[in-house]
Amino acid sequence: MPQKNSSASSTQAGYDLIAQAYADHVYGELAHKPFDRAFLDRLAADVPAGQVLDVGCGPGHVTRYLADRGMTVQGLDLSGEMVAQAHRLNPGLPFLQGDMRALPCADASLAAVVAFYAVIHFPPAELQSVFTELARVLRPGGLLALAFHVGDEVRQVEALWGVATRLDFHFFQPDQVVQSLQAAGLTDIELTERPPYDATVEAQTQRCYLRAHKPSQ
Ligand SMILES: C[S@@+](CC[C@H](N)C(=O)[O-])C[C@H]1O[C@@H](n2cnc3c(N)ncnc32)[C@H](O)[C@@H]1O
Repeated sequence: MPQKNSSASSTQAGYDLIAQAYADHVYGELAHKPFDRAFLDRLAADVPAGQVLDVGCGPGHVTRYLADRGMTVQGLDLSGEMVAQAHRLNPGLPFLQGDMRALPCADASLAAVVAFYAVIHFPPAELQSVFTELARVLRPGGLLALAFHVGDEVRQVEALWGVATRLDFHFFQPDQVVQSLQAAGLTDIELTERPPYDATVEAQTQRCYLRAHKPSQ
């Protein structure tokens, strides 16, 4: 089981500081993102039964969206303050604090894992081990759904929405992510890129949305 390291501690601290602001600015975003809604609608249609985990769930708007479409979904986040926001905004939905690199889930227990902009705080060299852990908990045929920013940079952020914090955002090339997924044993990989929506909606970065499957036995 991976040990919590200083990078994870600083990511957790960074999100604890901005959890309220993140919830205020991002919780309603899906209303303005038709591509993202269609991607999640397809997920809900393709995974009709079984437990789903939204890792790095933040304030829980993706968790809520999937639950509203009939999925049995739980959110998990490293930041205790984010989990508190998720509980506040989504009474009745299950959320827990945890690390996606050491999930409190049995092997092959989940129908799907969703990770929207959640692996973006890991350097590329760590992606394969993160995906290996996500693959461990997927049942055969289970689906991993990812979203991330496309590029080569590491964006070091010292404030968001006027709130001081310290977070590193890693951008990835889709080929790099596909190679890490394949090395983690995932197959049937499908990806789509989209340009950013308006600056009033989201950061002006190219986006990639990706689906990958654990092979059926
Ligand atoms: C950019 S936010 C994305 C939140 C939400 N999924 C969304 O689409 O808005 C990244 C989230 O991942 C969480 N996170 C970062 N590292 C994590 C880890 N190792 N395990 C679980 N959550 C993590 C952060 O606390 C944060 O809430």
